[in-house]
Amino acid sequence: MPRMEITLDSPLDMHLHLRDGDMLRLVAPLSADFAGAVIMPNLVPPVTGAAALQAYSERIDTAMGGIPFTRLMTLFFKSYSAAELESARALPEFFGIKLYPAGITTNSEGGLADMAAAAPTLHLMEDMGIPLLVHGESHGFVMDREAEFLPIYRRLAQRFPKLRICMEHITTTAALHLLEEHENLCATVTLQHLLITLDDVVGGSMQPHLFCKPIAKREEDRAALLRAALSGHPRLMFGSDSAPHPQHKKECCGCAAGVFTAPLALPRLAALFAEHGAADKLQDFVSGNACRLYHLHPVPRRITLRDTPMRIPAAYRSYGQRVVPMHAGETLSWSIVPTAAG
Ligand code: NCD
Ligand code: ZN
Repeated sequence: MPRMEITLDSPLDMHLHLRDGDMLRLVAPLSADFAGAVIMPNLVPPVTGAAALQAYSERIDTAMGGIPFTRLMTLFFKSYSAAELESARALPEFFGIKLYPAGITTNSEGGLADMAAAAPTLHLMEDMGIPLLVHGESHGFVMDREAEFLPIYRRLAQRFPKLRICMEHITTTAALHLLEEHENLCATVTLQHLLITLDDVVGGSMQPHLFCKPIAKREEDRAALLRAALSGHPRLMFGSDSAPHPQHKKECCGCAAGVFTAPLALPRLAALFAEHGAADKLQDFVSGNACRLYHLHPVPRRITLRDTPMRIPAAYRSYGQRVVPMHAGETLSWSIVPTAAG
């Protein structure tokens, strides 16, 4: 039977949580089907300075065990002086600054309480060409949080026209509309938000491994996000928001938010794009758009995907850690073709 194949040059994950310590050691190699990623800074304590950023980058490199991987490191947003920003910018792996409203998601207690206070740092970032990444949710009703944040994105885009602003993990049709309004806005979208709605999370028996922030929304939102991704929208990029938590922190009362997708994201995306006759759009979605928008040059790596099945384990475990992925125990229709090097 003829096989379908998609070969990708240096796929990038533009929003990835790798954690630290033993969890980092477990998930780093599992996240390395990509040639590189934007690494989130919401550690405990968060990454708020050049020295911490560099040290974290080195721990990631060690955890990758020799796999070539472009680390696009981020700082956690706070008020930074020009000198602090200069010392971060001097590091080759520095990518941008991630803004979390205070308390909005995992490890964001030290986030921003007052958007007005951000202006001086945002002016510096605009002048210095440092991208801003934003977790754009209000503290309102859970289904409305992203929509309620959109006016803040709009004001930022207008007030800082040269600042590159990324709306992270968008989940709504309204966010897609806003993307059209301002050239300096771009957005990432996750795998789960292309695939599931709130019904999949809580419509039947509750599925803690599909629970994340922002919560999955309505079918019309999912369909609009998928249409935009498949159409090759030039300012829409793949960012998995793969967010591993130990199994016992997901399967409990007070379940942590985050879906772990890193090891299966590329095969699942390949199946999705192929199924919709858009295999030719995947390269831009998982790399080309990001490289053009941010002038990136990730390590050259070539990944081939093929429509042969891939069994997803019930959990990934090592170093005393155990993490349950999305699609645990299922068989996907596409997989990665192993290279000679393994
Ligand atoms: C992320 C995490 O666990 O760090 N969780 C999530 O649900 N997406 C944080 C985030 O990106 O919101
Ligand atoms: Zn995230």
